[in-house]
Amino acid sequence: MQLYFDNAATSFPKPDVVLDAVVSYQQSCGASPGRGAYPTATDATEILDQCRDLLCKLVNAPSEKHCIFTLNCTDALNLAIYGIAKHFVALNKPVHIVTSSMDHNSVLRPLHDLELFGVTHTIVSADSETGLVDPLRIKSAITPNTRLVAIAHGSNVTGTVQDIESIGSYCENIPFLVDAAQTMGHTHIDVQTMNIDLLAFPGHKGLLGPLGTGGLIIKPGIEELVDPIRTGGTGSESEYPVQPITLPDKYESGSHNMTGIAGLVASLRWILNRGVTSFHETQTILCDQFINEIKKIDGVQIVGPPTTNHRCSVFSLSFDDDPYEIAKLLEEVSGICVRAGLHCAPLAHETMGTDTLGGTVRVSFGPFHTSNDIDLLVRAISNATERVLS
Ligand SMILES: Cc1ncc(COP(=O)(O)O)c(C=O)c1O
Repeated sequence: MQLYFDNAATSFPKPDVVLDAVVSYQQSCGASPGRGAYPTATDATEILDQCRDLLCKLVNAPSEKHCIFTLNCTDALNLAIYGIAKHFVALNKPVHIVTSSMDHNSVLRPLHDLELFGVTHTIVSADSETGLVDPLRIKSAITPNTRLVAIAHGSNVTGTVQDIESIGSYCENIPFLVDAAQTMGHTHIDVQTMNIDLLAFPGHKGLLGPLGTGGLIIKPGIEELVDPIRTGGTGSESEYPVQPITLPDKYESGSHNMTGIAGLVASLRWILNRGVTSFHETQTILCDQFINEIKKIDGVQIVGPPTTNHRCSVFSLSFDDDPYEIAKLLEEVSGICVRAGLHCAPLAHETMGTDTLGGTVRVSFGPFHTSNDIDLLVRAISNATERVLS
């Protein structure tokens, strides 16, 4: 038997309605949206529009056409970061970007790459016990040349959830990009009350859609500061060699992943019917159970927030042994699927002091987990630590 605890990588299983929608799209539609006036092409456009509409509903975003489809969250973060850097570099203006030590390589690597073009950045360090970033330290890192602040809402290493609203309030006129890879679908997000200008998210994690889906929701007006980083056919204004400036076409060149988006429409409906708050409450109960049970086991520690405050359902565990060995034991002995190592966030491990241990073992919950699954997980962890200690 396999018990999947790697929902931070991608969620599994998906609700049945997602599978039905994927199959039904391929069987009954199969066309590319915006590329024809025949019925299945207009059906495809309708599915695309429905998806934008549902995404905007979920996070209280005011404009569907400012909801841009991407390949995944990495792609959305790249669009925001490179798009803003390109805009200001083209104007010959200095560019400085602020991020945190808890951020993922999908932010850190673009910033490293952009150094080649003279773009500078500051990485604000987080608290070594909780992984929390002090919003005032973000404020202090902002300079007159800062063009973007990019922060991960939930850490994919420790599950730490940052105070996005406060950080956003200090950004004032500087675009604030939030990486919601670990919180979208798990935690209530309201782009308007949380001062978010750019919201990058995957469709395939907490939103329970298929792999290959994601998006960037842009606050109206901010698109003037974000140049397209991919140009090409949009099915519109084909007579002109220049990229359209109208949204969403400005950023959506090429054919869409309609099979994935059809699945995402179904998963969004499924989530909206149940409500993110209800998912959050259930996850919090499971997190509480997990924290209390893990505390009773010798030889394993939770890295990051010690309670359910300021956290989502992603946990890093450190053991007195190589994390890869523990992950292997969990899989071989108990069929538990987890991820070991640095989880594409090396600075988060440096912050928490787990880089020198080879990282951690990460477990992450999904909406189908039950209290019984957590019991099985805890028992497997307890067995693995006993084997290591003996
Ligand atoms: C915090 C964070 N940001 C970005 C990403 C990249 O997401 P995707 O896999 O959709 O590209 C991940 C992936 O795990 C993540 O955890």
